[in-house]
Amino acid sequence: MREIALHILDIAQNSITAEASRVVIEIDEDKRKDTLTVTITDNGCGMSPDFLQKVTDPFTTKRATRKVGLGIPLFKMAAENTGGSFEINSEIGKGTCVKAVFGYSHIDRQPLGNTAETILGLVTAYENVDFLYKHSVGDKEFVLDTDKLKEILGDVPFSNPDVYLWLSDYISEGENELD
Ligand SMILES: Nc1ncnc2c1ncn2[C@@H]1O[C@H](COP(=O)(O)OP(=O)(O)OP(=O)(O)O)[C@@H](O)[C@H]1O
Ligand SMILES: [Mg+2]
Repeated sequence: MREIALHILDIAQNSITAEASRVVIEIDEDKRKDTLTVTITDNGCGMSPDFLQKVTDPFTTKRATRKVGLGIPLFKMAAENTGGSFEINSEIGKGTCVKAVFGYSHIDRQPLGNTAETILGLVTAYENVDFLYKHSVGDKEFVLDTDKLKEILGDVPFSNPDVYLWLSDYISEGENELD
């Protein structure tokens, strides 16, 4: 079974391809509402309404007319399979917001997966992009804002071995404390 973290990676990579300079990734686990909500917002190139329609409904469109992948449809299906919902808003020149709500305790809900690794991978692979990551579980929240980190680090890159190790531990610990 696929993991939600891998969907997040896919969708964030779409944002990077769309030349976003800032990507906000939010995961909200609300056990009381029995939902797990993932929201990814970027300030990339955006999509036209016509294109958006094709991207989200691949199975109702003739495949031959579509030259796009499966990242978005798979994410949508994964959420809808759990009694959840899926929404994309996009505007050319402004950006895109993808929101998937999963039924938390639904038997078909994919595991969240290794979010720490996903986030570490994204922020270090695309250092010129600012990421804001927020993961909340009930009242607890872990936040990583690369904009703030870069201010503190100055010229020292994330790829610096010491920084990389510190960042890796920081994200892992932050995530672990949510459980
Ligand atoms: N955040 C975004 N901003 C602008 N365009 C986007 C964004 N996300 C998706 N798109 C457009 O929608 C298309 C479909 O995205 P989707 O993730 O479904 O497939 P893909 O990225 O083309 O391929 P795959 O994810 O299967 O590798 C993309 O090719 C891109 O043109
Ligand atoms: Mg994609």
